[in-house]
Amino acid sequence: MGMTKRAGYQGTGPGAITPDGCAVELYARLPVGTEPDIVAAAVPPGASILELGSGVGRVTHALVERGFTVTAVDESQEMLDRIRGARTICSPIEDLDLGESFDVVMLGSFLVHAADVEVRQALLRTCARHLAPGGCVLIQREGEGWHMNLPRERIDPSGFTVRVVSAEPIGDGANSVHVEYEFPDATWTQTFLSRPLTKDQFENALAEAGLTVAAYLTDDGTWVRSRLAGGEGSPLPHSS
Ligand SMILES: C[S@@+](CC[C@H](N)C(=O)[O-])C[C@H]1O[C@@H](n2cnc3c(N)ncnc32)[C@H](O)[C@@H]1O
Repeated sequence: MGMTKRAGYQGTGPGAITPDGCAVELYARLPVGTEPDIVAAAVPPGASILELGSGVGRVTHALVERGFTVTAVDESQEMLDRIRGARTICSPIEDLDLGESFDVVMLGSFLVHAADVEVRQALLRTCARHLAPGGCVLIQREGEGWHMNLPRERIDPSGFTVRVVSAEPIGDGANSVHVEYEFPDATWTQTFLSRPLTKDQFENALAEAGLTVAAYLTDDGTWVRSRLAGGEGSPLPHSS
């Protein structure tokens, strides 16, 4: 499918590549990590979830298995075609306006680090626009120093190596990041633009979209629960 690449984003390797350089076949192979546990601990059981940038459903499927009702959004129909058990919507997140609201909106995969500040703000406004009263936005941000001490690699127990090769400054505080995924039978690469955000910069970006941090959910500060500024807090499954 001839989707336009986002400027500064590209990918290589077998199969379809999305506008932001992600490989469909790669994401179909990647195992799910701790994401479903983090989500399940942070939101009420059975919540309705709007998952933005769902890919092939790596996390979606685990959430559906846990009893959440998920609406999965991605701009790649080839990614969405792999999703089972969830409603899918093919759209850029920036333009999404479903006229519906959800208990939980998820913006994972470091999408909040979009180098283009207007894109980042449009992503966050989409999160805020789809929140039910008392609902929350779950955001995954990069860990501190993620762009430093490169190259850095991790060997996954399932048998592949992921390597963050480089993060080259492109001016104005953003970097061009190059990542490789090496499997015994195939290699994929992705190059994307990412803007590192300090905690203050991250919280200011949320504030511009009318959101505020309710809690940092993980010790490394990478998963965040936020809510509408001035709104009521989101109901929790257990007190914390
Ligand atoms: C790195 S992949 C992660 C997929 C999934 N969240 C996961 O963790 O397996 C990012 C996905 O977000 C989608 N995406 C990135 N930017 C987007 C945007 N602005 N609008 C819609 N989809 C987007 C890509 O097409 C891709 O499928």
